[in-house]
Amino acid sequence: MTVHKTKLVKFVSTCALAGLLIGCSEADTGAEPEAAMAQEMPAEAAAPDMKYGFGTSVGADIIAQYDGDIHIDGTGLPSGSGNVALGREIYEIQCAICHGENLEGVREMGAQTMHEGRRDIKKLPYAESLFDFVRRSMPLTDPGTLSNDETYGLVAFLLVETGVMEDPELTLDADSLKAINMPNRDKFIIDPASGFTAEELEGK
Ligand code: HEC
Repeated sequence: MTVHKTKLVKFVSTCALAGLLIGCSEADTGAEPEAAMAQEMPAEAAAPDMKYGFGTSVGADIIAQYDGDIHIDGTGLPSGSGNVALGREIYEIQCAICHGENLEGVREMGAQTMHEGRRDIKKLPYAESLFDFVRRSMPLTDPGTLSNDETYGLVAFLLVETGVMEDPELTLDADSLKAINMPNRDKFIIDPASGFTAEELEGK
């Protein structure tokens, strides 16, 4: 058994090495294809790699899915709106399995409580960041699938559940989200070792 494994490892590493060498020699002698690719890239940045037969075209919708960062001043917040009821509905279906019925976190799924400690939602300086994070990264198994309305609803739900906002029927959209002043906002300090002043970091 051990002998077989060793042989297999040797075989695999020999193949990998051979692959590398072939790759290198092609790169060395293949100045032409490289140059051609470099020229094509801007026009057809998303063209599949025909040479190796993998890769796929990426359309504007997929690019938009990744290129959607939201700044702390609210720039980039999309249109749409969602309320606590919508957020609760989505949460129960898509989030509770990992985050628990009451945001307490399910340890086995790697999620911690959002009520206190390092993942405390109340400690976030900006509600914009919460929107950005949820839309970009959650649900963990299927990120990028939440609509803007659903994300506004989820943010409203999370803020109400953690006591940041009081209105149990809160509806959020770009303007109302931007207007939220997170309770911990002014408790952040600038690391003195960074050498920056508050003025220098304003708006960054
Ligand atoms: C498969 C499990 C899973 C699902 C489903 C899931 N999450 Fe998470 N979520 C996590 C984990 C794990 C983290 C911690 C990530 C880290 O530490 O980097 C996290 C982090 C978060 C955070 C940051 C605060 C914290 O608790 O760490 C928020 C907010 C959040 N998730 C919201 C959601 C929402 C809203 C949904 C549903 C749309 C959702 N998550 C679905 C596993 C999940």
